[in-house]
Amino acid sequence: MPIVGFFSENASIELQKEWEKRLQIHCSLIKLVPLLSKEAEQAQSALLWKPPLDRLKELKNLQGLISLGQGVDHILKNNSIPINIPIIRIVDPYMAKSMSHWVVLSVLNFVRDTYGYFDQEKNKLYKSRKELNFLSLKIGIYGVGAIGSVVAKDLYNLGFQVEGWSRTKKEIEGINCHYGKDCIEELIKNCDIHVCLLPLTPLTTNIFNKQTFAKMKSGSCFINAGRGNQVVENDLIENCNSGHISSAILDVYRNEPLPKNHEFWEQKNIRVWPHVAAETNPQTAAKQIANAIKCIEKGELPPNTIDRNLGY
Ligand code: NAP
Ligand code: GLV
Repeated sequence: MPIVGFFSENASIELQKEWEKRLQIHCSLIKLVPLLSKEAEQAQSALLWKPPLDRLKELKNLQGLISLGQGVDHILKNNSIPINIPIIRIVDPYMAKSMSHWVVLSVLNFVRDTYGYFDQEKNKLYKSRKELNFLSLKIGIYGVGAIGSVVAKDLYNLGFQVEGWSRTKKEIEGINCHYGKDCIEELIKNCDIHVCLLPLTPLTTNIFNKQTFAKMKSGSCFINAGRGNQVVENDLIENCNSGHISSAILDVYRNEPLPKNHEFWEQKNIRVWPHVAAETNPQTAAKQIANAIKCIEKGELPPNTIDRNLGY
């Protein structure tokens, strides 16, 4: 019987039961046990969101770690997982579409000045505001992988010009794709709206900083649903204060939950979302996770095992 250690930060026992029920549809023998319980010592695999990494070291039977999200930085954080333990991530079209909805919402709120109209409504002000011409707006998508490629295509289908950036060469219909370290400049300098959907790795840490913001067009919109550590937060605040970045829509932060005294909360042109842009859906993700658990039991490498050298 596959015993699986389960940990999801701040989650209730009900969530564990929900996952177990969903996983058992695909493999009736799977049993989830709390990662911190004695029973977890028998577990060959673990299903994790922001786990206590020291606990993983104590579980000597673990042969594979499965992320409860598409990102794995929460497991790789301290570099403490032995290289021979595969780390598997979710790749779920539901999540990609859900992220696309959030990015489209954020882009359209910027383009149609939703919050300006909300303010007018509060004052019963019936007046048109300056409208941006969407045909001339360029949107840069940083990271056109499982999620970013879907977001890019959806924005293109809404009539925007879309530029994509990745590590390796990509061809996506309708999208002007760039790749490699130096070509990030094509997006930074030429886009009006910047959308970060990158995984957090040593190469993407602090990638949006004083220098990158300075090269963006004045009045740019910055959207981040990748990871908080990709942004130097004080540099973003300075650029929002000066109006160089006219609007920032954020879903992820260096410290989560975002501390109550963080300046982002006070900034008029920064919108704060609590890391919900694309949440994992047990209903759609269970099948691939059950399959990963079965592969680990059999000593096989599951699909969507990350490349440890790349960190994603
Ligand atoms: P993915 O399929 O691995 O795609 C990552 C993309 O980033 C790829 O196009 C990759 O290029 C590119 N990339 C990585 N490192 C790069 C570098 N150094 N330079 C240029 N491009 C680089 O990942 P995904 O499933 O789309 O997820 C991306 C991230 O979204 C996750 O890691 C997570 O941080 C975030 N996320 C957030 C939420 C939320 O609710 N806020 C939800 C889900 C995911 P190649 O294709 O060439 O490798
Ligand atoms: C969420 O942030 C994820 O990585 O799935």
